[in-house]
Amino acid sequence: MLKIKKLKKIKTRFPVMLAEKALNSKQCEDLINEIKNSSSFDDMIMGGRSRINKGSKNFKRYIKKSKISKKLFTTFNNPFFFKKIQSIFKKNYKDLTWSNTYDPKKFIKNKFTNKKLMNSSELKKMYGNKYRNPSVNLDIDFSVSKSGYRLKPHRDDITRLYNFLIYLNDIPKKNGGSLTIYQKKKNTKIRSRFRRFPKISELALCKEFTPKQGSVIFFQSTPNSYHGVKRFKEHKGQKRFFIYGSYALSAPVLWKYKNVTYLPFIKPTSKKLLTSSHDSNYILNKSA
Ligand SMILES: [Fe+2]
Repeated sequence: MLKIKKLKKIKTRFPVMLAEKALNSKQCEDLINEIKNSSSFDDMIMGGRSRINKGSKNFKRYIKKSKISKKLFTTFNNPFFFKKIQSIFKKNYKDLTWSNTYDPKKFIKNKFTNKKLMNSSELKKMYGNKYRNPSVNLDIDFSVSKSGYRLKPHRDDITRLYNFLIYLNDIPKKNGGSLTIYQKKKNTKIRSRFRRFPKISELALCKEFTPKQGSVIFFQSTPNSYHGVKRFKEHKGQKRFFIYGSYALSAPVLWKYKNVTYLPFIKPTSKKLLTSSHDSNYILNKSA
């Protein structure tokens, strides 16, 4: 149901592809209505974003009664669709500078990223030595944001391979809520590390996407895939409706840049956090 043939490369430091009108306006309106009619949401994060997350009881209920959301979810939650996305990226980025060391062999449909609260040593224990033989799964949420929603520049969790966003309504530029893509100001050939949350002063804004109804953006979740969302302000009570998702491995991704490998390091903390909220840096593997 998603017209991914329209995906086009966007010039940035990491692989980003965009397709406009991947969904038609009727499909978008139907999806918005299904989200609007959802009686409950799983959580509210980032200053005003309500989510219905894959893995929750609420999500199951939502999918059962929401025809078009179910159709979209089924499209994404499929090993062949995942492979299609992977091959689109490989074909479009033949001189692929970033690559994933261990391709997943198994796609697990009913798996989702753990939503338990853990400290860093529990998290490391969970990943164990699955690095070399990871499986892959889809994570997805149906989201609506109100005024105040914003996301400071960051890279996503270390288990993510690809992330995607589908915008269900047009947002006027003056109302914010655009997706921002950043690059490091200093251009070094081989960087020794990539932090998950770099200082804003280290980054330069590279691209900005105003949400347009029916457009979809895919990007590879490489160590330098810095992105954020500008503070959103409702216009005449119009909220920001979108779908966010990713293909994630069962263990951290070992990213390669040309011939060098970057190893993920989870920052030690005794605080219990969501597995996807832990801070982590990618460090150049000098021993290889
Ligand atoms: Fe993100």
